Amino acid sequence: MQNFDYQTPTRLIFGKGVIEKLPSVMSQFGKKILLTYGGGSIKKIGLYQKVHELLKGYDIVELSDIQPNPKYDPSVLDGVRLCKEHKVDVILAVGGGSVLDCSKAIAAGACYDGDPWDLISYKVKAQAALPIVDIITLAATGSEYDTFGVISRTETNDKIGYGDRLLYPVCSFLDPTYTFTVNKKQTAAGIADAMNHVMEQYFTEDTTLLNDGFCESMLRSLMVNGRKCLENPEDYTARAEMMLACTYGCNGILALGNSPSGWPCHGIEHALSAYYDITHGWGLAIITPRWMKHILNEHTLPRFVKYGINVFGIDASLDQWEIANKAIEETYKFFESIGIPMHLREVGIDESRVGEMAHHIAVNEGLDQAYAPLTEQDITEIITASL
Ligand code: NZQ
Ligand code: ZN
Repeated sequence: MQNFDYQTPTRLIFGKGVIEKLPSVMSQFGKKILLTYGGGSIKKIGLYQKVHELLKGYDIVELSDIQPNPKYDPSVLDGVRLCKEHKVDVILAVGGGSVLDCSKAIAAGACYDGDPWDLISYKVKAQAALPIVDIITLAATGSEYDTFGVISRTETNDKIGYGDRLLYPVCSFLDPTYTFTVNKKQTAAGIADAMNHVMEQYFTEDTTLLNDGFCESMLRSLMVNGRKCLENPEDYTARAEMMLACTYGCNGILALGNSPSGWPCHGIEHALSAYYDITHGWGLAIITPRWMKHILNEHTLPRFVKYGINVFGIDASLDQWEIANKAIEETYKFFESIGIPMHLREVGIDESRVGEMAHHIAVNEGLDQAYAPLTEQDITEIITASL
């Protein structure tokens, strides 16, 4: 077991109606708020109105229209400008992962004099950041409980996972009822994203029985509850368990003591959505089984066997290779069964830029250090097999 040094400072307030605690939480941070949100879903579900009602007496500046795969220009730049102009004390991010991620980059950029891209591209380390409170409305990324903000810069085809300990939200509100309106496409993408977060941490060198158990249980929970959410979007119990499972995804808790993972499927997917602006969870679902097939060998076989038996209940008496191959097939079939298109061509990606993307990934994502190291050629083969 590896050494670690771990702290998650985020306060989680979970459950139906917890938003009533918003005024008491916000009162700790000053009167000037930057309220960030996306394209309008929070208005449709009445959350926007509720926030304003609860925060009467605060000075609220707004940044709206943050897009999925949030963009550096205009969203991060506009947010930083608003924070500086209005001397904002705290950011209140209300929406899905994209809104939260964008708000993290804004929080750091607002306390930095130079170009915020210096921070996102890790050229300069942030020295301070504004506090972030969030109300998450889509179960998927785990952004509500981690340090990361994934930011896209269209003109350079970059999509960077920017992380800094300063960017943990100070408080996250998780009310599963706000996720009732998430449509089938985004619900399925959320299930696939959260499942892949677990897999990225499960398929690694040095693991423990403890962590493997958490991961296997999370995968089973996400599949069972995810399906229930799709069948009945207002199933509170299923939405609640899915929401909590997603929250554990990216803050490292599932991998304490494990050897590090290179997060290869994320490395590949981030390039796909940087080049083609596709939905993150869909891209992951398409790549994952092809990546699994590609890395299955004598060395990785025992983990696939364990995964197959404990996650999918495959008969342990079968031949090991048969179990491993069945496990990969079950992974594919599950994603397909929740309505995800399982070929890149179906989401508008053809062979024309595969080489360019594979090169970009090989140079920028460091996947040659992973559990199953990937060269540029490997990456090309995985993407090509996913077409
Ligand atoms: O923009 P609005 O109108 O709010 O609509 C959004 C958006 O169109 C909608 N939506 C959100 N909550 C809703 C709702 N629709 C109805 N009812 C609700 N309650 O859903 C659409 C997608 O939203 P988005 O925030 O983009 O989805 P998600 O939460 O999946 O976030 C995806 C982004 O997070 C990044 C991804 O790369 C992608 O850019 N990730 C962030 C991570 C992190 N911070 O740790 C890790 C992940 O691996 C991931 O990379
Ligand atoms: Zn993800």
